[in-house]
Amino acid sequence: MNTSRRDFLKTLATGSTVSVLSMLTPVELVFREKLINKFSAGKLPTKGDYSLDKQIKYLNHGSIGTIPKIVQEAHREYLSLCESNPWFYMWSGEWEEPIESVRQKTAKFLNADSDEISFPHNTTEVYNLLALGLPLGSGDEVLFSNLNHAGASIPFHIHSEKRGYSVKVFDIPVDNLTNITKDDILDLYEANITTRTKLVVIPHIDNTFGLRQPVKEIAALARSKGVEFVSLDTAQTMGMIPIDVKDLDIDVIGTSAHKWIQAPKGVSVAYFNKRIHQKLDPMWVTWGQKDWKDSARKFEDYGTRNLPEVLTLGHSIDFQTNIDRSLKADKLKSLWKHAQNLSEQNNNTVWRSPSDWELSGSLFIVELKNEKPSILSKKLFQDKGFVFRPFDQHSTIRISPNVFNTTEELDELFDLV
Ligand SMILES: Cc1ncc(COP(=O)(O)O)c(C=O)c1O
Repeated sequence: MNTSRRDFLKTLATGSTVSVLSMLTPVELVFREKLINKFSAGKLPTKGDYSLDKQIKYLNHGSIGTIPKIVQEAHREYLSLCESNPWFYMWSGEWEEPIESVRQKTAKFLNADSDEISFPHNTTEVYNLLALGLPLGSGDEVLFSNLNHAGASIPFHIHSEKRGYSVKVFDIPVDNLTNITKDDILDLYEANITTRTKLVVIPHIDNTFGLRQPVKEIAALARSKGVEFVSLDTAQTMGMIPIDVKDLDIDVIGTSAHKWIQAPKGVSVAYFNKRIHQKLDPMWVTWGQKDWKDSARKFEDYGTRNLPEVLTLGHSIDFQTNIDRSLKADKLKSLWKHAQNLSEQNNNTVWRSPSDWELSGSLFIVELKNEKPSILSKKLFQDKGFVFRPFDQHSTIRISPNVFNTTEELDELFDLV
C-alpha cells in the first residue's frame, strides 16, 4: 500500500491521523513475549495451560485438539480488534504483513519456503483441491490404502467419476498391525503402484489404527516407479511429530491444524511444493490470482475470510515451536509405552496398534474383549470424565494423549476398562 493511501486509511479509520496501525504489532509481540517467558526453560505445557474442565481427562487429541489459554487470549484480541473497525481490519490491507509473517513462521516450522504455504480450512479442503485441480484424466489412477481417511478419499471417489480418472484402494492388513514392519508396508505400495498411478496419497498416521507410515521411503519408491504426485495427509501428525518437507520430498501436504497444532477450528496449513504450482488448478479464482502464479497463495480462499484465526494460527505455531522437541518426543513415547504395558497386563484389552514406536505415535488403539466401545466411552465420560474415541466396528477404543496428559490418567483408565 502506498503512503498516501495509508494516511487516507488512517484518517478514515480513526477520524484523525492518530495511528491505529501499530496495534497489531503489540498484540503479536505481547503474546510472543509471554510464550517465550513461559516455555523457554525447557518445560512442557501442563493441563493448567489449557481451559479444560478439572473433571475432564482429555485423551482425544486425534479428534479435536485443545487450544492453549495463551493462544485463546491472542485469538480474542484479534477478534476484538477486528470488530473495533471491521472494514478497516478486513479490507484495508493492514493484516497483509502479519499474515505473511504467519506464513513465514509456518514455512520455517516445516522447512518449506513461504511461497509453498497456504492456509485452507482443513485437510478435506486440500483433497478436494487435488481431486478437482490436478491434471488427472482417462487412464490415470489415484492410489491409496484402506487406512486413508474419508476426507482424503471421498473427494477422489466423487470427482473421478466426472473427470474420468480411476481410484484404486489397496488393503493394509489391519488384523496384524502389531507386528507389521517397514518392509511389509513398502512391499504393499510396491505391489500396487503401476504405470497408471499418477498420485499416491499417504496418511502419515491414520486415525483408526495409528500406523505411522514410512513416508520418505514410500515417496522415493513412488518416484522411482514414475509416479508424478505424492501427497501426505498430516492431520494426525503436524504438531505431534516434526515434519521436514525437504527431507520427505513430497508434493502436497494437507492437515487439520485444530488437532495437534492446537489452532482455532476453521483454519489450517497446506504445503504445495513449487514444482506443482503450475500443474495444480486453484479451486477458487479471484482478484489476486495473476500475481500468485508461482505461489501457494493462489490455493487459498481469498475474499472475506477468517483473518483473526489465520493470525492466531501464528501463535499456535509459536507455541509448538517453543516446546522443546526432544522433551516432547520423550513424553509422548513414554505415554505410548506406558499404555502398551498397561494393555498387555490387562485381561480385558488387546493392543492393536504397531508395537514399534517408529511405526506408531501418540494415537493408538486397544481392542476391548468384554464391552462395546461406545457404551464404555459413554460410561467413563459420564462417571469419570474420560474423553476418548470408540470404534464399535473394530471393537476398539482410540487413545490420543498430548504432552500434558499423565501416566496416572492412563493407569486410571486401564483400571476401569
Ligand atoms: C488422518 C485424517 N485425515 C483427514 C481428516 C479430516 O479432517 P478435517 O475434517 O479437518 O478435514 C481427519 C480427521 O479426523 C484425519 O484424522
